[in-house]
Amino acid sequence: MSLTSYRILSIFAFCVATAIADTNLDIPYPYNCSTRTTCSSLRIKLPQTNEQFNAKYLNASDSAVDFHLENKKGEQLALTITGIENQRFRIQIEEHDRHRYKLEHSLEKEPNVKKIQNVKVLNDSVTFEDSENNQVVVYLNPLTIEFYHDNVLETIFEGNRIIFQNTEESQAFTFSVRFTNTRQLLGLHEHADYFKLRHTADFSIDPYRLRNTDYGEIEYILDTTRSMYGSIPVLYSFGNVSSGVFLHNAAEQWIDINLIRNSAYFMVDGGTLDLFVLLGPSLPDIVRQYVDLTGKPHLPQLWALGYHQCRWAYNTSDDVMATINNFDIYDFPLDVLWLDIEYTAERKFFTWNLTSFPDPIELLNWVDDQGHRKLVPISDPHIKIDPDYEVYTYLLEHGLFVNNSDGASPFIGECWPGNSSWVDYLNPAAREYYGKRHLYENFPSTPALGGFWNDMNEPTLFDNLYERTFPFDLVHYGGVRHRDVHNIYGMLQTMSTHGGLIERDNGTLRPFILSRAYFAGSQRYANKWSGDNWGEFEDLRFSVPMALTSNLVGLAFYGADIPGFFGTATEELLIRWYELGIWLPFFRAHAANGTPRREPFLFKNETQAILREHMKLRYKHIPVWYTLFYEHTLTGDPMIRPLLYQYPDDPVGYDLYDEFLVGPDILTSSVYESNATSVPVYFPGNNESWVQITGNLSKLPVYQSGQWSNISVDITFTPVFYRTGSLISRKPNVSRSTADIKDDPLELHAVIDSDGIAKGRIYIDDYESFDYVNKKEFVYGEIIYDSNNSTLVLNLLDETSDPSKYPVVIEAIQVYERNGNEVTIKKITSNRDGTPLSTIDLSKKNILL
Ligand SMILES: *[C@@H]1O[C@H](CO)[C@@H](O)[C@H](O)[C@H]1NC(C)=O
Ligand SMILES: *[C@@H]1O[C@H](CO)[C@@H](O)[C@H](O)[C@H]1NC(C)=O
Ligand SMILES: *[C@@H]1O[C@H](CO)[C@@H](O)[C@H](O)[C@H]1NC(C)=O
Ligand SMILES: *[C@@H]1O[C@H](CO)[C@@H](O)[C@H](O)[C@H]1NC(C)=O
Ligand SMILES: *[C@@H]1O[C@H](CO)[C@@H](O)[C@H](O)[C@H]1NC(C)=O
Ligand SMILES: *[C@@H]1O[C@H](CO)[C@@H](O)[C@H](O)[C@H]1NC(C)=O
Ligand SMILES: *[C@@H]1O[C@H](CO)[C@@H](O)[C@H](O)[C@H]1NC(C)=O
Ligand SMILES: *[C@@H]1O[C@H](CO)[C@@H](O)[C@H](O)[C@H]1NC(C)=O
Ligand SMILES: *[C@@H]1O[C@H](CO)[C@@H](O)[C@H](O)[C@H]1NC(C)=O
Ligand SMILES: *[C@@H]1O[C@H](CO)[C@@H](O)[C@H](O)[C@H]1NC(C)=O
Ligand SMILES: *[C@@H]1O[C@H](CO)[C@@H](O)[C@H](O)[C@H]1NC(C)=O
Ligand SMILES: *[C@@H]1O[C@H](CO)[C@@H](O)[C@H](O)[C@H]1NC(C)=O
Repeated sequence: MSLTSYRILSIFAFCVATAIADTNLDIPYPYNCSTRTTCSSLRIKLPQTNEQFNAKYLNASDSAVDFHLENKKGEQLALTITGIENQRFRIQIEEHDRHRYKLEHSLEKEPNVKKIQNVKVLNDSVTFEDSENNQVVVYLNPLTIEFYHDNVLETIFEGNRIIFQNTEESQAFTFSVRFTNTRQLLGLHEHADYFKLRHTADFSIDPYRLRNTDYGEIEYILDTTRSMYGSIPVLYSFGNVSSGVFLHNAAEQWIDINLIRNSAYFMVDGGTLDLFVLLGPSLPDIVRQYVDLTGKPHLPQLWALGYHQCRWAYNTSDDVMATINNFDIYDFPLDVLWLDIEYTAERKFFTWNLTSFPDPIELLNWVDDQGHRKLVPISDPHIKIDPDYEVYTYLLEHGLFVNNSDGASPFIGECWPGNSSWVDYLNPAAREYYGKRHLYENFPSTPALGGFWNDMNEPTLFDNLYERTFPFDLVHYGGVRHRDVHNIYGMLQTMSTHGGLIERDNGTLRPFILSRAYFAGSQRYANKWSGDNWGEFEDLRFSVPMALTSNLVGLAFYGADIPGFFGTATEELLIRWYELGIWLPFFRAHAANGTPRREPFLFKNETQAILREHMKLRYKHIPVWYTLFYEHTLTGDPMIRPLLYQYPDDPVGYDLYDEFLVGPDILTSSVYESNATSVPVYFPGNNESWVQITGNLSKLPVYQSGQWSNISVDITFTPVFYRTGSLISRKPNVSRSTADIKDDPLELHAVIDSDGIAKGRIYIDDYESFDYVNKKEFVYGEIIYDSNNSTLVLNLLDETSDPSKYPVVIEAIQVYERNGNEVTIKKITSNRDGTPLSTIDLSKKNILL
């Protein structure tokens, strides 16, 4: 059964918003494996004996070993295996003349190599090792590369599936990797799919496809392996020993997953075979090993973690002001209002429609006056063809558009403004020029224009010549064919926007960019949402595995449009979506053009009360989010986590994604169906317990780990739990925006464990600038509450930081005291001597309670 058969299919094209009822969404998508040459021809091709590559050892350096590959048909390739520090190796294969496109910009920097040693050349194999307990065995006939960590075989590169096409039409190539000790395979973001990858190798479904795609009017379908807006070619094998691979390649690719052998067969449209092998050995290790290659983000400004209200579109200054006013009148927190394409003059980005936004600066100043709120406008990579549009004429005159296959004339296609050309972000001069469009002098605005929304950057065109995107033979800077860089195009737009915003604010303010398309490395510039979803319960459900996978592959700042972009969610679903949405890193509501207005203040009082309470719960947890985000910038660790990430030895959690963890301490579940009266929740772990914090409870129930429980729910809440032993830092009061509460003292929730101790980390800085990087001005520490002697201590976790500007002031500590299966809360607001806690700086002295 198709999960989507009940959807209403709508066509949203420029100036056309015709809704047609169509219950048959089983219409096959025509661009599937059987109709794409790379997939259809290579999926079934097993190289014959005379096509299999044998390897010959050539030479070795301190960090790499070279081989010559040749098959009986005389095809020749070069193989290099390089040691990369921190349990990684790199496999590069291509023709000896190395003519294939070498991807740029995805890796944060050239990875540090490590020394390899003990190279032993035997008759039929070559072995070597490193000083990190890894061994590599290269079998020569046919080529097979085995990677061992601590003498455990983890990953096998299967040379007998290598095919290299090298003709005018095709530079496609294939290879296969196999894992051992696998419990499940994860990754290959982005798919609207379950958390663990599915078996595709029996051809019952298409392989996972990575090709940045906007389905536009036909929308994306849940529960499939079809491509989505973004591509991160990272594959993890989770087990008692975990390992993974990252294919550093931005061409379209299809990946057949075989869960019987735990192998993955990659079919790639072009570029170089450049594969990083990540030897873990734990899942947290491989996540870090991957993220370290493509980079970690900087912190966002605090407001970006607040509530975002979007719709297509707030069309006038008056609408913007009236909407923001209503948030205040009805007491809903709000940090950002978004501007969709209508703010522009004729969809020319970096211009304002001065009829509907007569004085943008005045408007922005007004928005800033309302609790330092922000506006974020949309800005797409297509540029309207219009001889009176300066951005167009400049890019045209300087040859900075993506060209037709002739390499001499700009490609023209249709998008929001009508006929357009596309910025060639591969060209440094184009990135530079485009970046500078964001300067205040080039686009009248102020810092209250908090960032930009880079949309339609797969890139999307309306003409469906080639799946709504560029033909692959278009020519970029340096003569690069679009085929080789398709999946990184959107990321390069965000890189350019990011550079522009850094320059706009003199390198002081942290840029904020939301992007729909993305690639491995995008996290350095942009965050991400799951695109044009629907107001259906299944879309709510799938948003969780999508966000969890995103968090495992470095793109942690992720969320889904609340309560579904298309369609009109029922009020019940809308409530459920807010209840869940506050626990995803990016918290934004959005609505398609033509849908009824649905800002939170428009609903009946009972609904408003639930939405208000949940939005405020998000704001109360702002210190948790900010601290998690800081730790993510240090480590790449996910902010939200599947149970198996935190509890790898607890097999019950392996298949669960309906519930997930926010950091290590908060367990959230949700409701994915109508009229629910209870939700089954599994409590992971060994010795901890979980305290329910939502619901109208006078005493908080406690659940022991290692068991299931059916938790009663009504419409007013979904179950959320704190882990015993954790100490959660909250803001006690919520007002209009994050700016209004950022300097308020903390309220600590000390959920003491059976030893009477609660611990949690806190990070504080100026919430907006790069001083936390450049001057190391911040406080980062662990707060420990010990109920045995009633002490509260802060241990700084970064000796090199300068915490002097940021006192750690606590207004109250709520101690969760356990009594059987319940918790009662004791609130403490002064120390032993009766001094109010709010007058003490915990970073200067310990507190005796
Ligand atoms: C693939 O597309 C072709 C052509 O539209 C269609 O006949 C076929 O059924 C599709 N296959 C799948 C699996 O959707
Ligand atoms: C092997 O020798 C070739 C030719 O001298 C050289 O280019 C290459 O870097 C060497 N490979 C290694 C791993 O040192
Ligand atoms: C390796 O090759 C050499 C020379 O051809 C031969 O003498 C030797 O027995 C071979 N060793 C093995 C282990 O096959
Ligand atoms: C991992 O588990 C598998 C069975 O699932 C077992 O065969 C293997 O020995 C285990 N490996 C380690 C290193 O514990
Ligand atoms: C904003 O303008 C667009 C284009 O004119 C229109 O389709 C849309 O309905 C308007 N939105 C609102 C909320 O009025
Ligand atoms: C500005 O917006 C109004 C509607 O609010 C529209 O009628 C007008 O065409 C727009 N002007 C430009 C230059 O886009
Ligand atoms: C776009 O250009 C094509 C070819 O010049 C033309 O036929 C078409 O009418 C144009 N479309 C729009 C919306 O201007
Ligand atoms: C694209 O064509 C323009 C001429 O229209 C030329 O100036 C520019 O160099 C070309 N760029 C590329 C990458 O082919
Ligand atoms: C950037 O520098 C200019 C010129 O010194 C100054 O006017 C502006 O306020 C600065 N902007 C920020 C955000 O620091
Ligand atoms: C809804 O709440 C508002 C503000 O508290 C109040 O004025 C109004 O009477 C309430 N409406 C209903 C139907 O209870
Ligand atoms: C939920 O309850 C409402 C009102 O009783 C009913 O109309 C609706 O059909 C129920 N939905 C489901 C999915 O059972
Ligand atoms: C409280 O007890 C902990 C050990 O549980 C100890 O580390 C700490 O120093 C004690 N603090 C005081 C003030 O006694």
